[in-house]
Amino acid sequence: IENHSGSDWGILFGSQLEGIVVEMQDPQVGVKGSDQKLNVTTIPHVIADIKVWMTGNFLLLNSDKSAHVFGTMLVAYGYIYPLQNHKKLVMSNDTSLYRFQTPYFWPAQKWVPEDSDYAIYLAKRNIRKKGMLEPYEQVHYNHLHEWLNHKWDFIVMQATEQYKAGKERKKADRVVFDCQERAYWIVNRPPRQTHSALDCGPERLIDPNKDEVTGQYNIFYQQAIMRSKVKSSVSLGALVKYITTYKNHDAFLAPCLPSNPWQTDNDSYWTLNMRRVDVPTKMRVERWSFSLFELLSDLRGRDDFKIFLKKEFSGENLAFWEAAEELKWGTASSMSTKAETIFKTFLAPGAPRWINIDGRTMGLTVKGLEHPHRYVLEAAQTHVFLLMKKDTFFRYLKSPVYKDIQKKARNPEPHNFSPNQLEQNSLNRGVGIHPIILWQQEEEEKAKAAAASAPVDVKAMMSKIDRKK
Ligand SMILES: *[C@@H]1O[C@H](CO)[C@@H](O)[C@H](O)[C@H]1NC(C)=O
Ligand SMILES: *[C@@H]1O[C@H](CO)[C@@H](O)[C@H](O)[C@H]1NC(C)=O
Ligand SMILES: *[C@@H]1O[C@H](CO)[C@@H](O)[C@H](O)[C@H]1NC(C)=O
Repeated sequence: IENHSGSDWGILFGSQLEGIVVEMQDPQVGVKGSDQKLNVTTIPHVIADIKVWMTGNFLLLNSDKSAHVFGTMLVAYGYIYPLQNHKKLVMSNDTSLYRFQTPYFWPAQKWVPEDSDYAIYLAKRNIRKKGMLEPYEQVHYNHLHEWLNHKWDFIVMQATEQYKAGKERKKADRVVFDCQERAYWIVNRPPRQTHSALDCGPERLIDPNKDEVTGQYNIFYQQAIMRSKVKSSVSLGALVKYITTYKNHDAFLAPCLPSNPWQTDNDSYWTLNMRRVDVPTKMRVERWSFSLFELLSDLRGRDDFKIFLKKEFSGENLAFWEAAEELKWGTASSMSTKAETIFKTFLAPGAPRWINIDGRTMGLTVKGLEHPHRYVLEAAQTHVFLLMKKDTFFRYLKSPVYKDIQKKARNPEPHNFSPNQLEQNSLNRGVGIHPIILWQQEEEEKAKAAAASAPVDVKAMMSKIDRKK
């Protein structure tokens, strides 16, 4: 039992656990209770020696420690509640007094603790305490007041009724009932920074006097707080701009041409938009102009960008960016060979496709490549991306290469199927091309493209020119 983790308790939870609690309350063999004076009121059936009873009655709980753990579980789940330190849902290692919770408030009763019940309870408490709730209760109260404002009159009415009915009970009964109810809500609506054992298991923070374990989350939140912020007017502006730009490209917001294959059972849309299709659609070409990211994310767009770069003799930035992607997403086993090739091709002094990045980034990257990992090129890749974004990308958009593809791009006529045709389409549904086959085709084309755009070996070219002379 000592080594049980929170989730294992679930096995015991429910009828078995209740069976034990019932047995513990047996008048003959159960835990002995006695009347105790507490703040001038005599409270019946108060128990103090649960652990002794448990070690004596259960084979499994034969040590003080396991009895302690089990006792804490009973308290955390609300089968037993502490009378003195009512917020501390653990079994103390002293002579603290406890009582058994009434079965009506046992967790396995499965009556879901509703916010409105809690609101009634807090409102009642507010009346009794004349507005002096505990701070965490006050927070909950204010929140519920706002949240359940529409039926607050009803809640206050209920609370008043219950308060009046309570006053008619005998003093001892009243105190007992108040304690039971309070214990129930401590379990089900725990104070801030403590968690309900019902949600998280008994190992979670059920003792408010213990400090919360600070960890990863706090670092995360601290960083989140320190992050620079934008005015909401600025970020809303950006959101509007984004939506205006993209709205026609969203199949939910705008019809897609020629038709939505999911609706018409005609797959022309997919055929026209294959990844490396020869002639792209107008929509697709338009999308490339949104950002360099869009252009590079679309393989067809990237190919087109490459044509432009080739004309400019400035393909090395993109080639480096692609190599960095390969390293980032490729297999782990190929990493060191890839890193070496990248170093030789792009970074080493006098490399055939040397990239022009600032000295600091270059230094860090070269040093990192001694022990390569997936993200070793991140800084250099970002640098190169920004270079392309600032300059090359805009020249591409103005270039004849882009104008040409814009002109060539298809603008498919919208399909206008009659209901009959739609029915026919659904009967002719094909199986489509298998993704593996598509992938193989793409790999082949990629290899061909790579061969075609292999780095120009300047020496070989020069010697060719020399020979021509
Ligand atoms: C007894 O009084 C103390 C302090 O005055 C209080 O914290 C505690 O909740 C009271 N106990 C009961 C059962 O009302
Ligand atoms: C409780 O106190 C007793 C005596 O002080 C000690 O022997 C025992 O180990 C304690 N148990 C736990 C669970 O702390
Ligand atoms: C999709 O519709 C077009 C135009 O009506 C037609 O030419 C084409 O054959 C259809 N394709 C399929 C797979 O049904």
